[in-house]
Amino acid sequence: MNWKSTIIKDLAWGTKISNREDKEAIAAKVVQLVKYRDVIGFGSGSTSALAIEAIGKRVREEKLEIIAIPTSHEVEMACVKNDIQTGSFLKYQPDWCFDGADEIDPDKNLIKGRGGAMVKEKLLMSAASKTYILADKSKFVSNLGEKFAVPIEVLPIAVNSLENSLLSLGASTISLRIGIKKDGPVMTENGNFILDVNFKNIGKELEKEINMLPGVLDNGLFMNFPIEVLTAN
Ligand code: 5RP
Repeated sequence: MNWKSTIIKDLAWGTKISNREDKEAIAAKVVQLVKYRDVIGFGSGSTSALAIEAIGKRVREEKLEIIAIPTSHEVEMACVKNDIQTGSFLKYQPDWCFDGADEIDPDKNLIKGRGGAMVKEKLLMSAASKTYILADKSKFVSNLGEKFAVPIEVLPIAVNSLENSLLSLGASTISLRIGIKKDGPVMTENGNFILDVNFKNIGKELEKEINMLPGVLDNGLFMNFPIEVLTAN
């Protein structure tokens, strides 16, 4: 029996979606890649949300059987709302993934994590042979860090101890991500805090160097992943 509750049925993206037309055009492209019985890692963010709506339409109209592995509560609920079957990462390995990004450099390295879901996004992306990154024109930069800080998920007790180590890695500003509609720091789905860190320079080794620091779970740099970028045209 399915729940009759309207809470998930009435869920909508909380804010106005920027570059919506572009994002819808990209969603229309990724939906065409979905095949019967695919196991797909579903990334988080507004572009992914539009893709999930479009995939849901195909699932209903074509009785398409797929399994989605969600990267966040937000995505799991969007799958429920759109009649898409979800499965656990403990059981399924994704054949492929799709996801959004905050910045993409000319070598296809990424900053992700505006929505705070970068840990599971990276976990799924690492397990798939290919990920499609859905990118409207605002996402392309010459150098990573031009528009976004690097989000770093950290143990709550490590906030102070990490400061000097991050400064040694070239951090210029470090701020604790604060909630909206919640007082105090954002808590991730893994029970941790997020530090948003601007670096003077983002080198190829920085992703690994940050992850070596005690108290860090992972960070929003995605260097050298097997991705293909999908744009609106
Ligand atoms: C969430 C993410 C998102 O994929 C990224 O922020 C892009 O979001 P949007 O599609 O809303 O522009 O990394 O953690």
